[in-house]
Amino acid sequence: MTRRLLTPAEVRAWRAQNVGPVGFVPTMGFLHEGHLALMRQAKSECGTAVASLFVNPLQFGPDEDFGRYPRALEADLAKLESAGVDAVFTPGVADLYPAGFDTRVEVGAAASPLEGAVRPGHFAGVATVVLKLLNIVQPRRAYFGQKDAQQCVVIRQVVRDLDVPLEVVVAPTVREADGLAMSSRNSYLGPEERTAATVLFRALSAAERTFRGGARDGEGLCRRMAEVLSAEPLARPDYVSVAHPDTLAEISGEAGEGALASLAVRIGSTRLIDNLVLRSG
Ligand code: PAJ
Repeated sequence: MTRRLLTPAEVRAWRAQNVGPVGFVPTMGFLHEGHLALMRQAKSECGTAVASLFVNPLQFGPDEDFGRYPRALEADLAKLESAGVDAVFTPGVADLYPAGFDTRVEVGAAASPLEGAVRPGHFAGVATVVLKLLNIVQPRRAYFGQKDAQQCVVIRQVVRDLDVPLEVVVAPTVREADGLAMSSRNSYLGPEERTAATVLFRALSAAERTFRGGARDGEGLCRRMAEVLSAEPLARPDYVSVAHPDTLAEISGEAGEGALASLAVRIGSTRLIDNLVLRSG
């Protein structure tokens, strides 16, 4: 049985009874196979797996989709059960942000380009809630998806800078058969938009082919992605980028092995992100 824990105090009490190593997977719910792969990895590597389901208001901008973010608590609980997750933390907003809450974790350079530039305050919201969840759950390892590459870099920075005693594990992006990265936000897409959304992976794959063909100029790789995106009438790009995978500094000259190609694209009113790590073979 997946044990449901509603408050930080309940998590602490449960942890007092479950003192062995814990693998932790924070999520905003509406679970898909990308989330569940993280849960199964946490369970097999740590023996005990804990998930959280919390749509974090702090990481949404005023014009973003906090109010309509998809929620499916009962279905999520059944999925966690079948993935063998031992406990799930489902706090309410007031449990994590009671009256008087007034602290933010602000990450520097890693949080400023890409998503950080388009979504001011987003990564402060992510870093703050993740640090709180880590302090509450106290896992040995915390699991994140490569799908949100900049989020992984930001969290590694927090863990390193603030001496958080755990290991960050980043797992590969899980995709649909046609390449679209799984995302709770894919549920917003109408049928035509769903077809158009494959353009993100097609653009990234074109950059990868170009890189493997030996053309490694960062700006050239970005142009290649922009070209593929421009052929899809429903796609409106926010950015395309080829950046250093650790610093996220944009690469204008030659991109090396492991450079991060990433993009954010609006399809109708839905904003999607994706990335690929460029490798020669
Ligand atoms: P959410 O979007 O629910 O994602 C939870 C975790 O699942 C993140 O680590 C994310 O990178 C990972 N994930 C999502 N889609 C994936 C896919 N297709 N393949 C592999 N992993 C995938 O990311 C968040 O929630 C929030 O920002 C959170 C970290 C919970 C803080 O609120």
